[in-house]
Parts: sequence; C-alpha cells; structure tokens
Amino acid sequence: MEQYVIKGGKPLSGEVEIGGAKNAALAIIAAAIMTDETVIIDNLPNVRDVNVMLGAMEDIGVHIERINEHRVKVNATTIGRLSVDYEYIKKIRASYYLLGALLGKYKKAEVALPGGCDIGSRPIDLHVKGFRSLGAEVDLSYGLISVNAKRLIGKHIYMDKVSVGATINIMMAATLAEGKTIIENAAKEPHVVDVANFLNSMGANIRGAGTDVIRIQGVSKLHGTEYSVIPDQIEAGTFMFAAATTKGDILVKNVIPKHLEATTAKLIDAGCQVVEYDDAVRVIGRNKLMATQVTTLPYPGFPTDMQPQMTVVLALADGVSTVNESIFENRFKYVDELARMGANIQVEGNIAIIRGVEKYTGARVSAPDLRAGAALVIAGLGAEGITIVDDIYYIQRGYENFDEKLRGLGAVIERTDSEDQIEKFILKVS
Ligand code: UD1
Repeated sequence: MEQYVIKGGKPLSGEVEIGGAKNAALAIIAAAIMTDETVIIDNLPNVRDVNVMLGAMEDIGVHIERINEHRVKVNATTIGRLSVDYEYIKKIRASYYLLGALLGKYKKAEVALPGGCDIGSRPIDLHVKGFRSLGAEVDLSYGLISVNAKRLIGKHIYMDKVSVGATINIMMAATLAEGKTIIENAAKEPHVVDVANFLNSMGANIRGAGTDVIRIQGVSKLHGTEYSVIPDQIEAGTFMFAAATTKGDILVKNVIPKHLEATTAKLIDAGCQVVEYDDAVRVIGRNKLMATQVTTLPYPGFPTDMQPQMTVVLALADGVSTVNESIFENRFKYVDELARMGANIQVEGNIAIIRGVEKYTGARVSAPDLRAGAALVIAGLGAEGITIVDDIYYIQRGYENFDEKLRGLGAVIERTDSEDQIEKFILKVS
C-alpha cells in the first residue's frame, strides 16, 4: 500500500498546469462508443478512474488505442457484448455511463448495479426514471440493471432532484431517440456542457446544456470526431486551497476561471487574494484566514467535491465557520482524521462547525475517499512536522502526478510504499 509522506510548513509557490476534467472524461469516453466511426479524445487525464473506464470498454470489445498519455482513439465497431461487468462498476460508479451510451446506440444494455460508496448512499432512481420515460424497459435484479427498448422515443422529463449522472445518462440515450426530449431541472455542471458539446461534435442536436432545460432533438446516427476535454475545476480548486492553507502564492494554469467562481468567492471570503486571468487564476494566501459559511450546492453553487479542501482551510481561520453539506449525507468522514492533526471540528448531521486553530500538527492519517484524501494532503503541507497519508489509492483515482505537481511548487512530499521508505524520507528531511 502506498502513502504520501509530507514535511509540512512551507508556503507553496510557483505555477501548476491543470489537466483534463476526470468527470467530463469519464462520460465522454463512454459516449464515444455511440458511433461506429473513429473518435479521438484529447486532454484526457491519466488517472485511475479513466483507465478503469477504458478497461471496461475494452472488455466489451471496444478498440482503444492510446496515442499518448492524454490522447486516445476509440472505435466501437468491434463491440461484442452489451454487458458491463461488476469488476468495473465496483471500481468506478461512472461506468454506468455505458448504460446510457449502449442503450442509445444498441437499444439494449446491462450494467452491474452500483453499490453505496464512501460518501453516502448513491441511488440511481433518476437514471431509471429517465430511461423508462424514453420507452425502455428497466429491470433491476440479480445485481444488474438491464435496459431494453424496441424504440426510444423522446419525452418531456422532469428531474425531481438535480443529478449530474442522470442528466448525462439521459442526454446520451435521448441523442439517438426518435423525436424531441426535454430534460427539466437538469444539472448545469461544466462537464454536462462538455459532454453535450462532445455529442454535438458527433452530429447530435442538443441545446440548452448549462441551463435548467436541455432540449435534445434525436438523430438517427452519430459520426466520428476529435475532441479535447475541458480543464478539471476540482483539481484546480485543490491547488487553490493548497495556496490558502500553506499561505503560499500559486498560479493555477490552464483553467476556465468562470468554472471556479464559487471557489474563488469563498477563498476571498476567507481573506485570500485571487487574481483571475483569461485561462489562469493566482491565489495569494494570507497569514490570517477568516471564518466564513459554506453550503455545497449543484453548480453554480459551491461544489461538494471541494468541500473537504475548503474545510481544511477554514479549520485554520480565525473564528467559527460552518460547512453545510447538502448533496451527500456521509461526506465528513475525514473530520476525525483532521482532528488528529489538531483541527477542532464538530459535525452535527450534515453541518460541520469549525472553530479555527492556529496550526495543524503532523500525524499519520488515512484517506477515506478521493477528495478528502487530497484535502488531508493539503492539511499535511500546511502542518508543522511530518504527516503520513495512507490509502492514497483513492487520491490516484482522480489526481494525475499529484506529488510531482506539488513538488513543482516547493512541497516536500514523497510517495512511499514501505515503512523503510517512510523512515528514510523522515531521516532525509529532518
Ligand atoms: C457526480 C460526480 C461527483 C460529484 C457529484 C455531485 C462524476 C463521475 N461524479 O456524481 O464527483 O460529487 O456529481 O456534483 O461526475 N441522486 C438521486 N438519485 C439518482 C441520482 C442521484 O437521488 O438517481 C442524488 C444523489 O444521492 C446526490 C444528488 O442526487 O444526493 C447528486 O448526485 P449526482 O449529481 O447524481 O452525482 P453523481 O453524478 O453520481
């Protein structure tokens, strides 16, 4: 098992380049099977989740050619099976995007039913409702979701709750349905827009992505395309919070500043200086951070995927902050780990009440999930002494070369995989 060992206390400074958005990439590579022509996807992050998705696609017979680390060629003419194994779905829930993509193209698909996960129960009722509305029969038994349709017919679908995954899945299936589909109360996240743009570049007719109402005029077939994935707003935000926590000065490059507005606003509330450029943001940390109140909400609200990183900053702010998690019910599991580093946080239901402390002190902690894992690394970078973050497997699901990028900003961090290596690192830095 690998871990990150960190000697904290050094302000991070310099420039960091952000990669492609993991969550957009996962849906886009799945949607690439909706044509028999070749699709080239660029700016793919080379992270575990994306590689698992490509593996799931290869497993059903899709031809995948890695042109380089961030560019892949997909051709689906060789698909031999419409059934995606539990082996993949248990590693990444997003493999359920193959359901919408296969249903649209082949009118039939079978994907293992995703279980719960570390951040809360993750129902799929909205996906099911959407597929049924389009005329598919959906069967949930033997641990599988099976969808089957003679014809898919466009419909007016109201989403009872804003869901990124359900919006994208329905959008994919409706692209190759007959007639017009209207998705109301759709998710507006940047990656929903990116998937719509990708599908449109293949000949789909999708309007309104990025607003509450998405209108899809079904087409009979899609064609090949070449497409570049948008920058990852969560990776960008993570480095912005690293600047705030370590009182550093980081220029985060290759981003779309508009996608980062909620994060920027909260960092300014906390007393940091944020300068926006066309495709970069610079965050200058301050010696004194200020308490503030945050509620996670669907885009353009404050992202739930940035909640643990924000909490890490606020635990060092002067006064009492609150963080209200309104999307997932179990997303404060990392708080106990942070407490081991000196944070004073009390969780009541879905609200964390944070009384700022002067500093973190290094400790051995475990990453409970992807974003909380990254947040613990940031806390370690701001802490006095040595922090060891175990279970970094989670972090590698969504951050490419995380330690390398941090070292580029002056961080003292190493990836180790044995107690011997940990000891060697500690000897070297102390
Ligand atoms: C996506 C992101 C994830 C992010 C989340 C919220 C990907 C691969 N993952 O997850 O990183 O944290 O958006 O921004 O893009 N819900 C239902 N029924 C459903 C589906 C969802 O009740 O059928 C609920 C969920 O429990 C949750 C809320 O809706 O409370 C939002 O979930 P959703 O937007 O669907 O998250 P994901 O697409 O799974």
